[in-house]
Amino acid sequence: MTPCFIANWKMYKTGSEAEAYLRTFANQFALLEPATEIVIAPPATALAPLRACIDALALPVTLAAQNLHAAPEGAYTGELSARMLREAGCRYVLIGHSERRTHFGETDAQICLKIKAAGEAGLIPILCVGETLRQRQMGEGESVVQRQVEVALGDNRPSEVVIAYEPVWAIGTGKTPSPTEVAAMHRHIRTSLAPFHNVRILYGGSVTPQNIAGFMQECDIEGALVGGQSLSVGLFMTIIEQGMKSKMTRRHAAIGVASA
Ligand code: PGA
Repeated sequence: MTPCFIANWKMYKTGSEAEAYLRTFANQFALLEPATEIVIAPPATALAPLRACIDALALPVTLAAQNLHAAPEGAYTGELSARMLREAGCRYVLIGHSERRTHFGETDAQICLKIKAAGEAGLIPILCVGETLRQRQMGEGESVVQRQVEVALGDNRPSEVVIAYEPVWAIGTGKTPSPTEVAAMHRHIRTSLAPFHNVRILYGGSVTPQNIAGFMQECDIEGALVGGQSLSVGLFMTIIEQGMKSKMTRRHAAIGVASA
């Protein structure tokens, strides 16, 4: 599957700052490996300016929203529906990011409803899952993540889904699991998702230009969800560049081994 790099800007950048970022990006992106999917998840107010800029520059960049409300419409002050986000030009939507679970009390049951709403409106959900440090220390990492995935998907059968494995203790901390630990978790997730075919599993949590190559060398890691380091065009571009170089080297080596 095409490797995917997602910039999660969280609550950073106004519309004009987002546009300036994309213009700088456009000047350099020709250097990147074409078989890459690049997604930006800006704050909702930057979606329209970014959409206009992407279309004007004919850039192969797609947009993701950072959240949605599960209802199609209604008296929910401050919320946005899947249909609104679709019309604003989003292809994806982040669902269940650990900051939403922690600061806004989002539960797996609510996340399940959001995934259903996203699928019905034609948005591809990017489901974020991950264990806390305590759960990991208790040896519960795999079971916690499996439960998060199972409850969130429930009876939902979206035609396409992206899972971002983001250990809570790795987000914004500079700490990460090793690439082999991440790959093992990804295999575990894939096994529990056996009926789904169109699934991409990404890693997120303190991804940097220095550590991305190690992650992308693992065939079970199909991209990255990047927070802090994606706020700088230069750092995000380097992450994509280094990540793709590593993935291509890995693939060529695998073909070499197979044909030897
Ligand atoms: P980080 O954030 O890269 O700053 O750790 C990742 C995320 O929250 O998606």
